[in-house]
Amino acid sequence: KTISLIGAPIEEGSGRRGAAMGPTALRIAGIDTMLTDLGYMVVDEGDLRPAPARDLANHPRANNLQAVAAFTRALDGAVHEAARAGRLPITLGGDHALAMGSVSGMARYAAEVGRPLFVLWLDAHADFNSPDTSPSGNMHGMPVAFFCGQAEFAPILDKNRPLVDPRKVFQVGIRSVDEREREEIAEHGVNVYDMRAVDETGMARIMHEILDTVSHADGLLHVSFDVDFIDPEIAPGVGTTVPGGATFREAHLIMEMLCDSGLVSSLDLVELNPFLDDRGKSARILVELTASLFGRRILDRPTRSA
Ligand code: ARG
Ligand code: MN
Ligand code: MN
Ligand code: MN
Repeated sequence: KTISLIGAPIEEGSGRRGAAMGPTALRIAGIDTMLTDLGYMVVDEGDLRPAPARDLANHPRANNLQAVAAFTRALDGAVHEAARAGRLPITLGGDHALAMGSVSGMARYAAEVGRPLFVLWLDAHADFNSPDTSPSGNMHGMPVAFFCGQAEFAPILDKNRPLVDPRKVFQVGIRSVDEREREEIAEHGVNVYDMRAVDETGMARIMHEILDTVSHADGLLHVSFDVDFIDPEIAPGVGTTVPGGATFREAHLIMEMLCDSGLVSSLDLVELNPFLDDRGKSARILVELTASLFGRRILDRPTRSA
């Protein structure tokens, strides 16, 4: 299998600087050599540098719309193209607004091959705001609403593009949701496993439920991994830390179960802010977790099924 690395140095969605250094930090932490060592062919497509989308008017409640829209369009194209060429796209972020493009590109691919697209959203945040509901106006809080067709406030991508069914979005690790966002995710049927659910049910059982659903539907699974999913004590290199995050072991278990499932079609690594990191610690953890997702394991044994 061949993997495409697509750098998306976007930080304009996040309301602060630093996430644009993410793709470089992930490369320095060895994302490419790690994958090569695991036996994959790796094509590093370099970093996207799209010019701002000046055809769009600025929006008072969608900060840096032109820059975000440009990355959305570029990634929609690059991710779709990689998938169509039979490569597995990994988008190296960059803030989470990039998922507007990466997931839209995969939704187009899924529609072409006639399979449903599921999204596993590993995050402290639901990212289901729109310009109408967002308290900050920062577009990294809006990608899920966008690819589910709930934030159509500007012609960023074709309105008639394939959208993701919010009932096929599974969010795990959630512990910070805005007031109106909470109503939106309930109304649209997003599957949310918040931190309380993780504590009460356990990560293994939650993942089995999700993977069973995807596998019975013969779906593709896009994984969008926000650094703030993990507890800030172990991954401090992110602008929007929320205490009480996933442990190192919970995160690795998810990656190992995803690997065993064979269902993952595409991956985002987002919100890494090397400017805030502690000697590359968070970048290294992301690379370690990605290694588990792509087959590094402690022992040769099948995971026990529950
Ligand atoms: N919910 C907050 C907002 O809309 C924070 C979003 C954080 N998103 C992220 N991808 N880190 O501004
Ligand atoms: Mn996020
Ligand atoms: Mn987040
Ligand atoms: Mn709505």
